[in-house]
Amino acid sequence: MTTRLQHLLGIESLHPNDITAILDLADSYVDLNRRQVKHTDALAGLTQINMFFENSTRTQASFELAGKRLGADVMNMAMQTSSVKKGETLIDTALTLNAMHPDLLVVRHPHSGAVDLLAQKVNCAVLNAGDGKHEHPTQALLDALTIRRAKGRLHRLSIAICGDIAHSRVARSNILLLGKMENRVRLIGPPTLMPSGMSEFGVEVFEDMAEGLQDVDVVMMLRLQRERMDGGFIPSEREYYHRYGLNAEKLAHAKPDAIVMHPGPMNRGVEIDGEIADDINRSVIQEQVEMGVAVRMAAMDLLMQSRRAQPEGVMV
Ligand code: NCD
Repeated sequence: MTTRLQHLLGIESLHPNDITAILDLADSYVDLNRRQVKHTDALAGLTQINMFFENSTRTQASFELAGKRLGADVMNMAMQTSSVKKGETLIDTALTLNAMHPDLLVVRHPHSGAVDLLAQKVNCAVLNAGDGKHEHPTQALLDALTIRRAKGRLHRLSIAICGDIAHSRVARSNILLLGKMENRVRLIGPPTLMPSGMSEFGVEVFEDMAEGLQDVDVVMMLRLQRERMDGGFIPSEREYYHRYGLNAEKLAHAKPDAIVMHPGPMNRGVEIDGEIADDINRSVIQEQVEMGVAVRMAAMDLLMQSRRAQPEGVMV
């Protein structure tokens, strides 16, 4: 990883070499996580604070486990019961925690850009665990590791991202990462859920699943992010499932060995058929969860290494 890297705020600021370095180290953490004793002391003595201002199951649990397995002291702030409810601003909350000398702050926030702003105010490493519709870098990294392990490479693959692209930070981070690693990315979804100007990102846009899934290596499904919708973006869930829900018939258009991914949480019968999600020959959804812990361990370890290498006081 470039020693300039002080935070992990998005895929946008990563060089392909940084991505490869994180994934290579994550591979070794996958091995460690499969052992009975899963501890190292890479972050021993360091303090990690998790601040989740939005609901989370996988991301929060895996950041917590990742920190603990690396030997850090990990604290989960219960943001629902914190002084945020008394009107304290995000920045004041962050400055308060910063005064307790944490080394890593892991932050999820409903507003795009909030995590970047926070990173400018504190003097520890900040990891973005998802900010609004903007970025979710560790999700894209764990998806990349899952793809690399399943396909044996992370370049020149044809990858379809399907569904609610417009409200998805997962889609955005994946488009950036997969593009940087020289893959062909296709976006499939109804026009109401497709942001304009996507061709600028070097992706192909499809309205029809059968057409878009033709011969792809990877099918990535997304949840309808209703919490970010302010109106009717789809006629009905039934209609949406009919046109965009992944079932065996639609998947038959992809390559015979195409893998199926989903970042979770899944809505079975809306964007994906339960049988496809559970098909161990096609679905790598559980592997994605496993890779999540390893990727977060690798990202935190490398950030701490690059901070140690940085002369005191120099921040990027
Ligand atoms: C995603 C998120 O929060 O952006 N979930 C996750 O982190 N695994 C996707 C989603 O909420 O649909």
